[in-house]
Amino acid sequence: MDKNIILSGIKPTGIPTLGNYIGALRNWNLMQQDGNYCYYMVADLHALTVRNDPDELRSQTRSMAALLIACGIDPERSPLFIQSHVHQHAELSWVLGCTTYMGELNRMTQFKDKAAKHADNINAGLFTYPVLMAADILVYGANQVPVGDDQKQHVELARNIAIRFNNAFGETFVVPEPVMPKFGARIMGLQDPEHKMSKTDTNPNSYISMLDEPAAITKKFKKAVTDCEPTIAYAEGRHGCNNLLTIYCACTGKTMDEAVKDFEGCGYGRLKTCVADAVIAELEPVQNEYRRILSDREYLDGVLKKGADTASERAQKTLDLVFERVGIR
Ligand code: TRP
Repeated sequence: MDKNIILSGIKPTGIPTLGNYIGALRNWNLMQQDGNYCYYMVADLHALTVRNDPDELRSQTRSMAALLIACGIDPERSPLFIQSHVHQHAELSWVLGCTTYMGELNRMTQFKDKAAKHADNINAGLFTYPVLMAADILVYGANQVPVGDDQKQHVELARNIAIRFNNAFGETFVVPEPVMPKFGARIMGLQDPEHKMSKTDTNPNSYISMLDEPAAITKKFKKAVTDCEPTIAYAEGRHGCNNLLTIYCACTGKTMDEAVKDFEGCGYGRLKTCVADAVIAELEPVQNEYRRILSDREYLDGVLKKGADTASERAQKTLDLVFERVGIR
């Protein structure tokens, strides 16, 4: 089997939720096995597309890196770095921008959503965001890109950019594919179980932050919206109940059949307590590890420096080839 080159990134805006953990970060850890080679980055350049406080961005970027290690990303195996520390991303992004059409970028649903949400700050970076993301991917020759549904369209654009460039200038880029999580891709909000759990939800009871204290986790699950059916079951239309069962399975490793059996004859009170306990058992070790790593400044700086060096060395090879292909070397 050929080994996969994997790249993924996460923006350092806010603390990831339980949904991000189950659907994305935990899988990043698993993907380091099977002979894959993984690059993981904190996308601080992408975070600039919305207004932010500089000190907050700086500290959230480090926190996110520490959290990724706490989730099991092993920097000895997988380069872990901050996007802006590898200057090749921004340089490649310029070249790719010159082979991307306005019409393509105009079709990006995330751009449309964000433009609607930040009507007072529709900046050019928000528009060219997917081009930078294509550069992130293509600069490492990544063939697989783990993302949630909201980013799939961006990976498809990266594919199209790669194919078009290869046709115009000769074989240069590996054509990447999005990889969607098989399980837990859609952990729903606790207050509104018909919508995905989101850290930007106005109601903090709707999401579990990865750094929530155990007491807060228990409280939020107790308030979770369910329904009035007399039994616990996984069934069409029972969004709240299904979501709790899914979270339970994700945190205990049980199958849905086993989970449903565990709650035979029980009411929602018991289900909610058990789900909360399972989530706490899963997140607590990650939180402890996160605090330990974040407080070890020297270690974290060292990891990020080494990650950026390794990434940069690989990225430069692609950039040299691209510059040569387009005639600026
Ligand atoms: N845009 C992604 C998000 O908002 C983060 C990201 C930046 C990314 N560059 C990437 C994801 C490259 C995958 C590959 O979540």
